[in-house]
Parts: sequence; C-alpha cells; structure tokens
Amino acid sequence: MFLNSKESISLDVNNVPKHVAIIMDGNGRWAQKRHLPRIAGHKKGMNVVEDVTIAASEIGVKVLTLYAFSTENWKRPEDEVNYIMSLPEKFFDKFVPKLIENNVSVRVMGLIDQLPASTKKAVDDAVSKTSHCTGMILNFALNYGSRMEITDAVKKISQQVKDNQLLPSEIDEKIIDANLMTGYLEELSDPDVVIRTSGEERISNFLLWQIAYSEFIFTDILWPDITKNSFLNLILEYQSRNRRFGGLKNK
Ligand code: FPP
Repeated sequence: MFLNSKESISLDVNNVPKHVAIIMDGNGRWAQKRHLPRIAGHKKGMNVVEDVTIAASEIGVKVLTLYAFSTENWKRPEDEVNYIMSLPEKFFDKFVPKLIENNVSVRVMGLIDQLPASTKKAVDDAVSKTSHCTGMILNFALNYGSRMEITDAVKKISQQVKDNQLLPSEIDEKIIDANLMTGYLEELSDPDVVIRTSGEERISNFLLWQIAYSEFIFTDILWPDITKNSFLNLILEYQSRNRRFGGLKNK
C-alpha cells in the first residue's frame, strides 16, 4: 500500500490497473452551467488531460487511452469541431516537455489521415518527439470508432487469407487482437478499467472488442471537474472490484 500524502488516498501498489481507458464526457455541460460557450469546456478539459496523465504515470499505469474524438463527433457544429481539432496543437506545444520529463510516450489510434493537416502534424510531432520515452503510453483515440476499427481489421485479415498468408482455420483471437488499432499495445491492448465521466452510462463505440473483461466505472463528475484527487479515487474504486474473468475468483 502507499499513501498519497496530500490527498490521503491509499492505493494498493500491487493492484494498479495496467491499462486505463477514459471516455471524457461532460465538457459541454460544464461550460453551459457557467454560461460559457461549449468550447470553454473543451479548453478546461484539455488541462484536465494534463493532470490525469501525470497522475496516472505517477501511480504506475502503463497505458492511458483517452477518447478525444469519435468518428461520430464530426456531426457537431463546425466551429466546435474546428476548436477540438485545434486542441492537440495547443496541448502538445505546451505539454510535450513535461511528457518527456515524465518518460511518457504519445501514441494515437484512429483515422489520423482524415484529420486536418495541422492537427495531424501536431500529433505526428508529439509521437516522434516522445518515441524514446519508455514509461507510460498516452494513447489518444482521435477520429476513432470501434465498429470502424473492427471492420478495418476484418478487411485486413480477409486480405491476408486472399493472399494465402493465412488459412481461415488459423484465425483466432490473437490474430484479431493484432489487427485492431490497439495491436501495437500487444498484451496491454485490453483496458483493465473503462471510466466514463458526467453520469452517462454507455460505451459510445469505444474499444468494443477490447472491453470484454474490463471493469466499468461511471462517475457523475463532469470531465473538466476531474482532479488528480478524483482520478485517484476512481482508481481506488477499481481496486475494490473483484475481477473474476469468468472464473470463480481472481486471487
Ligand atoms: C465530450 O464532452 C468531449 C469531447 C467530445 C471532446 C473531448 C476532448 C477533450 C477533453 C480535450 C482533449 C484534449 C486533447 C489534447 C485532444 P461533450 O462535449 O460531449 O460534453 P456534453 O455531453 O456535456 O455536451
């Protein structure tokens, strides 16, 4: 056990989730409550990403996957989409040195080639500038959707069968894992816990294959109101769960 002295939260060091995935929801409502434009919520949300990234890295999380923009989010008003697309530039400009200091590498999954050129460049630069970091992976899901990801994996596997590289009988869960966008995370592909903020209790096309045995934590806190302390409390909630993976007990 260790004590996070400022917040007095004791976490079990032997039960830190390796892969934490977060649906960062509630930015718009946070702004509306303050009579601010929705983009003010996204701006504050971006700052929370910094705090949660550092907190997760400090407690020993290996992969932090953040759902930043879904393939469905293009339906939002153009000015909001444009603002969200400008966030990676703002975020990485300021935050890359701190990521390097904390040995955090940036990765991204989604249809990155469809992003505006400046967004893609900001993301690509952050990935390459942090590629030497060997600590936590900060994995942004950007223009990501799980049905698209699965469809894409089916196409890739079919092509391998067509090219005689694979027999249909050889297709197993490992092959499917490897062809999903999380494939590069290898044994860390599946989140141990999925957290969704803002009181909404749905999965919204996020990591549908990978969450087969994940724990789910739904909190009413809006994403821009999340602090290091509230994040650590969510990890504490994870640690109270008894994961059985279909068996009788975990330990
Ligand atoms: C969901 O809240 C949030 C988003 C669709 C955008 C999330 C983006 C961030 C938190 C910033 C990401 C930072 C980087 C660096 C890319 P919502 O707008 O759906 O909130 P609502 O449900 O209250 O309307």
